[in-house]
Amino acid sequence: LARAFAALRRIEPHAHAAWIHDLDVARARARRFRAAFAALDPLAAYALKANALPMLLEALAHEGLGADAGSLGELEAADRAGFPAGRRVLNGNGRTAEEAEWVAREGVALVNADHVGELELLDRAAAQAGARVRVALRINPGIATPGHDYVATGHDEAKFGVSVAEASDALRHRTRWPHLQLDGVHVHVGSQLLDPAPMAAALDAALAVADEVARAGPPLGALNLGGGFGYDYAGRHEFPLEAWAEAVRARTAGRFERLVVEPGRWIVAPAGALVAEVLWVKQRSGRRFVVLGAGMNDLLRPALYHARHRIEPLAPRAQQATPADVVGPVCESADVFARDVPLPPLERGDLLAILDVGAYGAVMSSNYNGRGRLAELVLEGGGVTLARAAETGADVTRRDRAERLL
Ligand code: LLP
Repeated sequence: LARAFAALRRIEPHAHAAWIHDLDVARARARRFRAAFAALDPLAAYALKANALPMLLEALAHEGLGADAGSLGELEAADRAGFPAGRRVLNGNGRTAEEAEWVAREGVALVNADHVGELELLDRAAAQAGARVRVALRINPGIATPGHDYVATGHDEAKFGVSVAEASDALRHRTRWPHLQLDGVHVHVGSQLLDPAPMAAALDAALAVADEVARAGPPLGALNLGGGFGYDYAGRHEFPLEAWAEAVRARTAGRFERLVVEPGRWIVAPAGALVAEVLWVKQRSGRRFVVLGAGMNDLLRPALYHARHRIEPLAPRAQQATPADVVGPVCESADVFARDVPLPPLERGDLLAILDVGAYGAVMSSNYNGRGRLAELVLEGGGVTLARAAETGADVTRRDRAERLL
């Protein structure tokens, strides 16, 4: 990491922080994920929302993963990175006519519809393009998940999905949408699950819908189990991937022509680090504040979800570690990466690495406080590549106008 950051500084001498993504790690995890599910031969559609850096997407497409897009922009990114039509999935609860037209025209393996009304829109787009679009209906099975409320998606108050009864009804009457191949059910009950129990409950709910539909008419062909495969940021234990894959196989083998899973975090979380320079060290009322050159506009997870990522100095001094609050430079009290973490003595100019930020890291960054997004580097086979340049002041103000409209 230190060597990569030094290489960046040779072309951007004033860089105070950067994202560093390790493609070898991401590739190895993609392979392990595919191997775990090999007996089911699913479409493992990587959720682009976790990290959509083009170099990373190209590597994952090459590893045989599919792409789960949540927007038109992600569909286009998947297309540019080389994910073929038969390996693309479209998600999202705010379907637009533009997205419907795009998938009907360019092709997609599956669209997960979040709502029955959306089927009209998809059906019309398919008719116009002379295409048949495969669609699964997302159910909200009313399942609570542990962890932060903001990443729970399958409980009654969550905005996602339709009721089980509404889904069964639409699927039993699917000839209403003649240009769609509406023969699937989709569940995704939450992210960052380290225990697959809620996923097992969601699988039960999806299978119950499939059973009900099959009793009344032709059976469903597609089952999409979503993402949610967690990553332990404390590094203590891991999501039981192989055991969960075997449990899915035992329950579903031979029942569906198309099985889809949508891993995001699991594939890329440990493949990314945020390296930042120590700008200042300040002591006040018994606390040591370490101010970094990266802030909550760069890595939002601690401020938004109280997420805690491990933080390590790149060149630790030998002396004893004492507690420190590691903070960013943004004018917000939530701009804190960690409180009371044991760190050795630090000085201005030292480099710290915030670990396991390959998922939902750089993608969630913003220009808040007038800050340009950071450069993104890629490590691959011993080499270091600049995969995305840092935003300059001109980039940040590029869209500003005084263009009178009325
Ligand atoms: N499929 C659907 C429909 C999703 O909504 C998501 C994530 C995924 C798959 C991928 O889930 P994963 O395997 O990564 O858990 N920003 C939050 C996470 C938000 C997840 C949103 N949906 C975070 O930083 O923890």
